[in-house]
Amino acid sequence: MPRNIVEVSQFSRDDLEFIFDRADEMRALSVPDHRLAGRILATLFYEPSTRTRLSFESAMLRLGGNVISTENAREFSSAIKGESVEDTIRIVEGYADAIVIRHHEQGAAARAASVASVPVINAGDGPGEHPTQALLDLYTIRHELGRIDNLRIALVGDLRFGRAVRSLALLLTQAIGIELVFVSPPEVQMGDDVRDALTRARIPFSDESDLASAVRDVDVVYQTRIQKERFSSDAEYARNKGIYIVNAETMANLPEHAIVMHPLPRVDEIAAEFDRDPRAKYFREAHNGVYVRMSLLESLLAGPWSNERGTALHE
Ligand code: CP
Repeated sequence: MPRNIVEVSQFSRDDLEFIFDRADEMRALSVPDHRLAGRILATLFYEPSTRTRLSFESAMLRLGGNVISTENAREFSSAIKGESVEDTIRIVEGYADAIVIRHHEQGAAARAASVASVPVINAGDGPGEHPTQALLDLYTIRHELGRIDNLRIALVGDLRFGRAVRSLALLLTQAIGIELVFVSPPEVQMGDDVRDALTRARIPFSDESDLASAVRDVDVVYQTRIQKERFSSDAEYARNKGIYIVNAETMANLPEHAIVMHPLPRVDEIAAEFDRDPRAKYFREAHNGVYVRMSLLESLLAGPWSNERGTALHE
């Protein structure tokens, strides 16, 4: 069981079943609940966020805990004065019982976890990983389709810089009978690190260039945004955006039982006219983040992953 949540490779299949079962229980919970009363969560966000920060904070509040937050830590924390992530964590661990960190540098969450005496949760580290998003994505698949095994899944869009889709692909190594189809512009194809991990896990994958054709026999379409902020020039971004859009032709070819997901935010890669299509699950997916994050916070602070030392007080 993990003490920090840094990358999806930490999770076994048993861990996933436990997290998802607890998330189901959180969904049914009548709030307010007080199991994390007196506990404090710090959310340190060096990059923008709507869903991750607010759903973590909502999860903590729904369990009776409290939240302290810096939403633009790159500018409004002492990072602007040159303070390192490590020093910031050494300070904040004295103020909170767990720390959620989003940072623009890949590996920053691992660095934070390496010096922290309280649990650290990676809320996205540059183009690296977004493990709690992958957990809520896989939970959504289980909730909507009733299983996480024996699925054909199309991963679409920016597979190079999209940390959510990278984490989801890696997390799917815990499932059986998975087949992945990558649909992305050539400049933002899935990285070799993920391809190698899938090969080691014996998960078949292929690259397809025609989205409308690729979705004909899938169970899940996982669409992603082209990550504008990761490109070195506007011209590079312009070359890659707007190529793969979930449109009328995609939806016409998509099986009736299949679902459309997206970690959000979306720009134009899913036409809004399909938001009411029963196969469109991306808003429910975002709402599921609260239940999964309640499950994680409870496990880290008051459940099987906690050191059960109570509220953090440091010498
Ligand atoms: N999916 C996701 O990480 O969204 P935010 O950037 O709004 O947190």
